[in-house]
Amino acid sequence: MKSLSRLLLLVGGAALTTAVSRRHHKPLQQQHPLGVSSLPEYSRYSTSDAAPSYRKTLLDLHRNLISIPSVSGNETTVASWLADYLTSQGHTTSLQCVDSPSSNSTMVLAKSSLRCNVVVRSLSSQSSSASPAPHLARVLVSSHIDVVPPYIPYAIDTSDEIGPDTLISGRGSVDAKASVAAQIVAVDQLLASNEIDGDDVMLLFVVGEETTGDGMLSFSSSSDNQKFEAAIFGEPTENKLACGHKGIGLVTVSAQGKAGHSGYPWLGKSATEVLARAIVKILDADFGCSDRFGNTTVNVGRMEGGVAANVIARDAVARLAIRIATGNRTTGVEIVREKLEKILEETDGEALSMEWLPGGYGPIECNCDVDGFETIGVNYGTDVPHLSGDHVSYLYGPGSILVAHGDDEALRVRDLETAVEGYKTLIKHVLKKAD
Ligand SMILES: *[C@@H]1O[C@H](CO)[C@@H](O)[C@H](O)[C@H]1NC(C)=O
Ligand SMILES: *[C@@H]1O[C@H](CO)[C@@H](O)[C@H](O)[C@H]1NC(C)=O
Ligand SMILES: *[C@@H]1O[C@H](CO)[C@@H](O)[C@H](O)[C@H]1NC(C)=O
Ligand SMILES: *[C@@H]1O[C@H](CO)[C@@H](O)[C@H](O)[C@H]1NC(C)=O
Repeated sequence: MKSLSRLLLLVGGAALTTAVSRRHHKPLQQQHPLGVSSLPEYSRYSTSDAAPSYRKTLLDLHRNLISIPSVSGNETTVASWLADYLTSQGHTTSLQCVDSPSSNSTMVLAKSSLRCNVVVRSLSSQSSSASPAPHLARVLVSSHIDVVPPYIPYAIDTSDEIGPDTLISGRGSVDAKASVAAQIVAVDQLLASNEIDGDDVMLLFVVGEETTGDGMLSFSSSSDNQKFEAAIFGEPTENKLACGHKGIGLVTVSAQGKAGHSGYPWLGKSATEVLARAIVKILDADFGCSDRFGNTTVNVGRMEGGVAANVIARDAVARLAIRIATGNRTTGVEIVREKLEKILEETDGEALSMEWLPGGYGPIECNCDVDGFETIGVNYGTDVPHLSGDHVSYLYGPGSILVAHGDDEALRVRDLETAVEGYKTLIKHVLKKAD
């Protein structure tokens, strides 16, 4: 147990200043986090169910995280709150700031608002003072602290006693502040019971997962990205172990025509017509499938073209999101790109062109071979492909993706508590500690 922990502010890996220095004596107990007023106590806790000892700690942490708005691009407050919380728990915590505010954010940010990942390198543990010099962490436990808009306030159903069935709602209650809270409590539980060595685990809570993945990309290229044996990513998987997720390609298909009077179509060339024919072929095409991930699917999310009903359209564009189920992480995009190119060529190679946004990837495999877990395949993107290295990836977390970005984002206390136990099992599995 370290008697003093430090909160370092890191920019591009270099320590600039010691921002917080605080003495603490009981790092594994719930303490009032620094800098945030404590929220009201729950009035009634159920005594009839076998509540885990950490229920209140878990619910308080979850509530604090949700109560701080953190739409992607505006994560500064939640990051510094979380860093203070982890510091108050006795963890050596630092902020790792990404280079710039997320570009094209609609948010107006103060120039001083650095966007920072929260990194815990060496976890406090009862035995760490007796152990030799800290070694490289073997497992990374990570989730994200940004959320999609709009902000929805925290709410907990208090019509009855707080028990496993109690519903908790609010933006981020599932995606992914539930994972963040459950991961922290799981690690603290394992440390308190001496089941893991604090040096074995690194905690990482990133910004920007819902947009460009810039938080994880920034961590990935930093010196903190050690040779992890495994990385456990927290995302809503209904507490099932995900065998992976589909890849993604964001593609803009453009058609170039020639304007003219609509009464004399032969004088021009309609970009909207060419694009429409191509899009129908794309929607009818088979872009491949796999047993694990199902079909590749195409969403034509946006189409624009032309200027007026009586003018032959000179330009038209369609923006597609393709969820790739074929090939592997590196070949998936190429397979789909070739098929798409062929369709455009067959339709009108001269008029049509396409542009792939950077950052696409094929299907991502995760390890789902751990005793005691149901498995699932998911269709959404994650930060898994944004962490470079040879580690084994696990994807697991509480709550359902089906409500995650909606107005009704919510989960039950049971889901959070099951996730704590799930993370404990996964961490011990990776570290080969007996259950
Ligand atoms: C940014 O986050 C802060 C703190 O969570 C919040 O008070 C503020 O309203 C947010 N700003 C915007 C534009 O959402
Ligand atoms: C940001 O917006 C500009 C102008 O709209 C665009 O050119 C650029 O590609 C965008 N950048 C990203 C990362 O989306
Ligand atoms: C995949 O697409 C085929 C053909 O459209 C369809 O028959 C099948 O049900 C789809 N499979 C899944 C898992 O959606
Ligand atoms: C993807 O498949 C290609 C060809 O089958 C193979 O060369 C490559 O190593 C694979 N990449 C990954 C990341 O599995």
